[in-house]
Amino acid sequence: MPSTIVILGTGGTIAGTASDPSDNVGYTAAQRSVGDLLAAVPMLAGRPIEAEQVAQLDSKDMDHATWQRLAQRTAHHLSRADVAGVVVTHGTDTLEETAWLLHRVLAPSKPVVLTAAMRPATALSADGPQNLLDAVTVAQMRGARGVVTVVAGNVHGPADVRKVHPYRTDAFSSGDAGPLARVEEGHLRQHRDWPDGPAMGLGRLAVDPAEWPWVEVVTSHAGARGGGIDALVAAGVRGLVVACTGNGTVHHAVDAALQRATHAGVLVWRCTRCAGGVLVGDPALLSPAAAMSPWQARVEMMLGLMGEPPAGG
Ligand code: SIN
Repeated sequence: MPSTIVILGTGGTIAGTASDPSDNVGYTAAQRSVGDLLAAVPMLAGRPIEAEQVAQLDSKDMDHATWQRLAQRTAHHLSRADVAGVVVTHGTDTLEETAWLLHRVLAPSKPVVLTAAMRPATALSADGPQNLLDAVTVAQMRGARGVVTVVAGNVHGPADVRKVHPYRTDAFSSGDAGPLARVEEGHLRQHRDWPDGPAMGLGRLAVDPAEWPWVEVVTSHAGARGGGIDALVAAGVRGLVVACTGNGTVHHAVDAALQRATHAGVLVWRCTRCAGGVLVGDPALLSPAAAMSPWQARVEMMLGLMGEPPAGG
């Protein structure tokens, strides 16, 4: 039985430090190494765990080169016969985007568990060590598979996970679906099955990250104007994800600009800017992004465009 767990560090608040232990928000993210995070959890000492620093950044600054490297290192370790699962320590701010990318590219048959913290490692009551312990617990769980997020005892699947709060330690939600499972004192209470593929495959990310297709998220709101969309099209954007009002509506000025964009060959998908729920209506007319957050849809569209043959090819 494989038993090794590999922890890949990418930075985030879980690796952040502040000069004042009572300061939960005035800190610098991505300061402590993944080895230091592991050392802060005494219960993990002596277990077959390896730690590797893949990146050290505040996840607001996540970039395509880091995604490519993270996916490659994750796939490398998952392919090892001795490895049971991979844990990724990550910032909370773009965690759901990374989760969706890894899910769509790898859809692994072993667990890949993303974890994070809302308070820095120096906080009086830091949440990172417990989250890391819970993440390793899930990664070691027999039968676990797929890309999941473990924060505040909740296990979220990649399609449902959303960051819903700017400072609470329980900052993630699976919305209407509810969490896939809960980690309770080292035991798993499971509500739904583990996430499944199909995987696009790591080859999808083989392109130089500087060449990944340009896809932007735009939105509609009171007083909206279409000039920003026209400017993006003129600058060469390949795709637009629209965070629409309600059930997929947009301001008439935005609608006109989106029609011009479509006419110019730009791919346009609609999803909702509502914090919960999905677009509903005739399935034949719904956008491929109807059930996605705007940020997931951006990843999905980009991956789709990367699978297309180059223009003129
Ligand atoms: C980050 O996303 O890297 C900073 C914020 C956080 O981890 O909570």
